[in-house]
Amino acid sequence: MNEIKKGYEDSKNIKWWSEHYNEQKERQFIKKIIESIPDSGDKLLDIGCGIGMHSFIFKNLGKNVIALDYSKKMCDYAKNHYGLDVIRGDALKLPFTSEKFDITFTCGLSTIVGDEDIRIKSVREMRRITKKGGYIILSTPSDKSIYFKFKKDSLHHLDDRDEGILQKEKLDVISTIYWGILPGFMWKNLILRIMAKFLELFSRSRYIGIRKVVICRKK
Ligand SMILES: C[S@@+](CC[C@H](N)C(=O)[O-])C[C@H]1O[C@@H](n2cnc3c(N)ncnc32)[C@H](O)[C@@H]1O
Repeated sequence: MNEIKKGYEDSKNIKWWSEHYNEQKERQFIKKIIESIPDSGDKLLDIGCGIGMHSFIFKNLGKNVIALDYSKKMCDYAKNHYGLDVIRGDALKLPFTSEKFDITFTCGLSTIVGDEDIRIKSVREMRRITKKGGYIILSTPSDKSIYFKFKKDSLHHLDDRDEGILQKEKLDVISTIYWGILPGFMWKNLILRIMAKFLELFSRSRYIGIRKVVICRKK
């Protein structure tokens, strides 16, 4: 875990993340999430916000957002580049009182793609700070996606066992979305863009979409 944390303090990593995403595509992703929770409130926490692009989009779509990350460099970037309200903190010990947020969002958060005991601890912390009836949204790489089969990524992917853990922690899994194709650089070059456009036709399929997004509701 400490190795992961150290990695996110590297400026090269910030540069990579800032070039990794296509903002227009990420906007579609966030819009899809908001459409899936039409009755949610506005107060949203983005845990492990990274450079802050998702937080920024949520904010532009009307949410009242706090972005949180462990990495000082990521926090500085999110604050300076996107003008976000950013707090430096640990996902395993969130600096908030209980039941504060309507929506708790994470995308690629290290504590959710790590060991099972950490995953449970992290989910409990998210549950604590989320209001009753509020939503917890977990996005991780999709274990079924062909891309990750080839990439042989070593990170944990949310699987059926995790869904069991969520239910045990009194969270109802209300929907699962598969989303997106390959990283943002695919949209930069004409040939890659043509390939990306083709693959995008299938990006809602669990075998093509590279993200698995599990939307839960706190009972
Ligand atoms: C894979 S990046 C994803 C960033 C962003 N959510 C996105 O989708 O672009 C994971 C982020 O989680 C942060 N992180 C890792 N462990 C954390 C922890 N224990 N508490 C808070 N943030 C953490 C890292 O600093 C990094 O910015």
